[in-house]
Amino acid sequence: MMSTIAALSIRRFDARDTDAVIALWQQAFPEYRDATKPQRNPRLSIANKLATQPELFFVAVLGERVVGTVMGGYDGHRGWLYSLAVDESLRRHGIGSRLVAHVEAALTALGCPKLNLQVLSAKNDVRAFYEALGYRADEVVSFGKRLGELADSSRG
Ligand SMILES: CC(C)(COP(=O)(O)OP(=O)(O)OC[C@H]1O[C@@H](n2cnc3c(N)ncnc32)[C@H](O)[C@@H]1OP(=O)(O)O)[C@@H](O)C(=O)NCCC(=O)NCCS
Repeated sequence: MMSTIAALSIRRFDARDTDAVIALWQQAFPEYRDATKPQRNPRLSIANKLATQPELFFVAVLGERVVGTVMGGYDGHRGWLYSLAVDESLRRHGIGSRLVAHVEAALTALGCPKLNLQVLSAKNDVRAFYEALGYRADEVVSFGKRLGELADSSRG
Protein backbone atom coordinates (compact mmCIF):
# COMPACT_ATOMS: atom_id res chain seq x y z
CA MET A 1 0.00 0.00 0.00
CA MET A 2 2.76 2.45 0.84
CA SER A 3 4.18 2.16 -2.69
CA THR A 4 0.71 2.81 -4.11
CA ILE A 5 0.44 6.01 -2.12
CA ALA A 6 3.97 6.99 -3.11
CA ALA A 7 2.65 7.17 -6.69
CA LEU A 8 0.04 9.73 -5.65
CA SER A 9 0.09 13.08 -7.36
CA ILE A 10 -1.93 16.22 -6.88
CA ARG A 11 -2.85 18.37 -9.85
CA ARG A 12 -5.41 20.97 -10.88
CA PHE A 13 -8.93 19.75 -11.54
CA ASP A 14 -9.65 19.26 -15.23
CA ALA A 15 -13.19 19.27 -16.69
CA ARG A 16 -12.62 15.65 -17.73
CA ASP A 17 -12.47 14.74 -14.02
CA THR A 18 -16.09 15.87 -13.48
CA ASP A 19 -17.85 12.48 -13.36
CA ALA A 20 -15.16 10.89 -11.19
CA VAL A 21 -15.28 13.82 -8.76
CA ILE A 22 -19.08 13.67 -8.52
CA ALA A 23 -18.92 9.93 -7.80
CA LEU A 24 -16.33 10.56 -5.08
CA TRP A 25 -18.39 13.35 -3.49
CA GLN A 26 -21.54 11.23 -3.53
CA GLN A 27 -19.62 8.58 -1.60
CA ALA A 28 -17.91 11.00 0.81
CA PHE A 29 -20.73 13.51 1.43
CA PRO A 30 -24.10 11.83 2.16
CA GLU A 31 -25.87 15.18 1.63
CA TYR A 32 -25.09 14.92 -2.10
CA ARG A 33 -27.31 11.83 -2.20
CA ASP A 34 -30.18 13.65 -0.44
CA ALA A 35 -32.82 14.56 -3.04
CA THR A 36 -34.49 16.95 -0.57
CA LYS A 37 -31.44 19.25 -0.72
CA PRO A 38 -31.52 20.82 -4.18
CA GLN A 39 -28.80 23.27 -3.14
CA ARG A 40 -26.36 20.33 -3.07
CA ASN A 41 -25.73 20.15 -6.77
CA PRO A 42 -22.21 18.89 -7.41
CA ARG A 43 -22.30 19.65 -11.13
CA LEU A 44 -23.24 23.27 -10.39
CA SER A 45 -20.57 23.52 -7.65
CA ILE A 46 -17.95 22.37 -10.15
CA ALA A 47 -19.18 24.76 -12.87
CA ASN A 48 -19.14 27.66 -10.38
CA LYS A 49 -15.62 26.81 -9.27
CA LEU A 50 -14.40 26.60 -12.85
CA ALA A 51 -15.66 30.18 -13.22
CA THR A 52 -14.01 31.44 -10.00
CA GLN A 53 -10.41 30.65 -9.04
CA PRO A 54 -10.28 27.29 -10.86
CA GLU A 55 -6.55 27.26 -10.08
CA LEU A 56 -7.46 26.47 -6.45
CA PHE A 57 -9.40 23.27 -7.22
CA PHE A 58 -7.20 20.19 -6.91
CA VAL A 59 -7.55 16.44 -7.32
CA ALA A 60 -5.34 13.68 -5.96
CA VAL A 61 -4.76 10.96 -8.54
CA LEU A 62 -3.28 7.50 -8.53
CA GLY A 63 -2.54 6.84 -12.17
CA GLU A 64 -5.79 7.76 -13.93
CA ARG A 65 -7.94 7.30 -10.84
CA VAL A 66 -9.23 10.33 -8.94
CA VAL A 67 -8.95 9.46 -5.23
CA GLY A 68 -9.29 12.84 -3.53
CA THR A 69 -10.40 16.45 -3.93
CA VAL A 70 -9.96 19.81 -2.26
CA MET A 71 -11.08 23.33 -3.13
CA GLY A 72 -9.60 26.57 -1.91
CA GLY A 73 -10.64 30.18 -2.20
CA TYR A 74 -8.97 33.49 -1.33
CA ASP A 75 -10.91 36.74 -1.08
CA GLY A 76 -7.98 39.03 -0.29
CA HIS A 77 -8.45 38.71 3.49
CA ARG A 78 -8.98 35.05 4.35
CA GLY A 79 -8.55 31.78 2.61
CA TRP A 80 -11.21 29.08 2.75
CA LEU A 81 -11.06 25.35 2.26
CA TYR A 82 -13.96 23.27 0.93
CA SER A 83 -14.83 19.85 -0.46
CA LEU A 84 -11.99 17.89 1.06
CA ALA A 85 -12.70 14.24 0.33
CA VAL A 86 -10.68 11.04 0.06
CA ASP A 87 -11.90 7.77 -1.44
CA GLU A 88 -13.21 5.63 1.42
CA SER A 89 -10.99 2.67 0.53
CA LEU A 90 -7.83 4.80 0.74
CA ARG A 91 -8.30 6.75 3.97
CA ARG A 92 -5.70 6.92 6.76
CA HIS A 93 -2.79 6.86 4.33
CA GLY A 94 -2.02 10.56 4.42
CA ILE A 95 -3.87 11.57 1.23
CA GLY A 96 -6.14 14.05 3.06
CA SER A 97 -3.10 15.60 4.76
CA ARG A 98 -1.33 15.92 1.39
CA LEU A 99 -4.36 17.65 -0.13
CA VAL A 100 -4.61 20.13 2.75
CA ALA A 101 -0.87 20.86 2.56
CA HIS A 102 -1.24 21.46 -1.18
CA VAL A 103 -4.02 24.02 -0.82
CA GLU A 104 -2.22 25.65 2.13
CA ALA A 105 0.88 26.10 -0.05
CA ALA A 106 -1.17 27.55 -2.93
CA LEU A 107 -2.87 30.05 -0.59
CA THR A 108 0.40 30.95 1.14
CA ALA A 109 1.89 31.69 -2.28
CA LEU A 110 -0.97 34.15 -2.85
CA GLY A 111 -0.13 35.95 0.42
CA CYS A 112 -3.12 34.57 2.32
CA PRO A 113 -2.52 35.01 6.08
CA LYS A 114 -5.17 32.64 7.50
CA LEU A 115 -7.11 29.65 6.28
CA ASN A 116 -10.63 29.03 7.60
CA LEU A 117 -12.87 26.03 7.19
CA GLN A 118 -16.15 24.73 8.53
CA VAL A 119 -16.91 21.23 9.77
CA LEU A 120 -20.40 19.97 10.57
CA SER A 121 -20.50 19.80 14.38
CA ALA A 122 -21.45 16.13 14.39
CA LYS A 123 -18.35 15.06 12.44
CA ASN A 124 -15.99 14.31 15.32
CA ASP A 125 -13.65 12.25 13.15
CA VAL A 126 -13.17 15.15 10.77
CA ARG A 127 -12.51 17.47 13.70
CA ALA A 128 -9.81 15.04 14.88
CA PHE A 129 -8.31 15.08 11.39
CA TYR A 130 -8.02 18.89 11.29
CA GLU A 131 -6.70 19.04 14.85
CA ALA A 132 -4.00 16.55 13.86
CA LEU A 133 -3.00 19.01 11.13
CA GLY A 134 -2.71 21.94 13.56
CA TYR A 135 -6.13 23.54 13.04
CA ARG A 136 -7.95 24.87 16.09
CA ALA A 137 -11.62 25.73 16.54
CA ASP A 138 -12.10 29.50 16.49
CA GLU A 139 -14.36 31.12 19.07
CA VAL A 140 -16.96 32.06 16.50
CA VAL A 141 -20.45 31.09 15.48
CA SER A 142 -20.80 30.49 11.80
CA PHE A 143 -23.66 32.41 10.11
CA GLY A 144 -24.93 31.88 6.60
CA LYS A 145 -27.67 33.06 4.28
CA ARG A 146 -28.65 31.71 0.91
CA LEU A 147 -28.73 34.13 -2.01
CA GLY A 148 -30.34 33.94 -5.43
CA GLU A 149 -32.95 31.43 -6.49
CA LEU A 150 -32.54 29.22 -3.40
CA ALA A 151 -32.81 32.18 -1.00
CA ASP A 152 -36.00 30.84 0.55
CA SER A 153 -34.60 27.41 1.40
CA SER A 154 -34.56 27.57 5.17
CA ARG A 155 -32.17 24.71 5.87
CA GLY A 156 -28.79 23.30 5.08
C1 LIG B 1 -11.44 13.84 6.41
C2 LIG B 1 -10.74 13.00 5.34
C3 LIG B 1 -10.54 13.85 4.09
C4 LIG B 1 -9.36 12.55 5.89
O1 LIG B 1 -8.61 11.96 4.82
P1 LIG B 1 -7.46 10.85 5.10
O2 LIG B 1 -6.69 10.70 3.85
O3 LIG B 1 -8.06 9.64 5.68
O4 LIG B 1 -6.60 11.60 6.24
P2 LIG B 1 -5.06 11.31 6.66
O5 LIG B 1 -4.72 9.89 6.36
O6 LIG B 1 -4.21 12.35 6.04
O7 LIG B 1 -5.17 11.54 8.25
C5 LIG B 1 -4.19 12.31 8.96
C6 LIG B 1 -4.45 12.21 10.45
O8 LIG B 1 -5.73 12.79 10.78
C7 LIG B 1 -6.34 12.03 11.85
N1 LIG B 1 -7.56 11.35 11.34
C8 LIG B 1 -7.89 11.11 10.06
N2 LIG B 1 -9.08 10.46 9.97
C9 LIG B 1 -9.49 10.28 11.25
C10 LIG B 1 -10.62 9.66 11.85
N3 LIG B 1 -11.59 9.09 11.09
N4 LIG B 1 -10.72 9.63 13.20
C11 LIG B 1 -9.77 10.19 13.97
N5 LIG B 1 -8.64 10.79 13.47
C12 LIG B 1 -8.52 10.84 12.13
C13 LIG B 1 -5.30 10.99 12.27
O9 LIG B 1 -4.49 11.61 13.26
C14 LIG B 1 -4.52 10.80 10.99
O10 LIG B 1 -3.22 10.30 11.19
P3 LIG B 1 -3.00 8.68 11.40
O11 LIG B 1 -3.74 7.98 10.31
O12 LIG B 1 -1.51 8.53 11.30
O13 LIG B 1 -3.56 8.37 12.75
C15 LIG B 1 -11.57 11.73 4.99
O14 LIG B 1 -11.88 11.05 6.18
C16 LIG B 1 -12.87 12.00 4.24
O15 LIG B 1 -12.89 12.09 3.02
N6 LIG B 1 -14.00 12.12 5.00
C17 LIG B 1 -15.34 12.30 4.39
C18 LIG B 1 -15.53 13.65 3.78
C19 LIG B 1 -15.50 14.79 4.81
O16 LIG B 1 -16.21 14.76 5.78
N7 LIG B 1 -14.64 15.79 4.51
C20 LIG B 1 -14.43 16.94 5.37
C21 LIG B 1 -15.32 18.06 4.99
S1 LIG B 1 -14.98 19.49 6.02
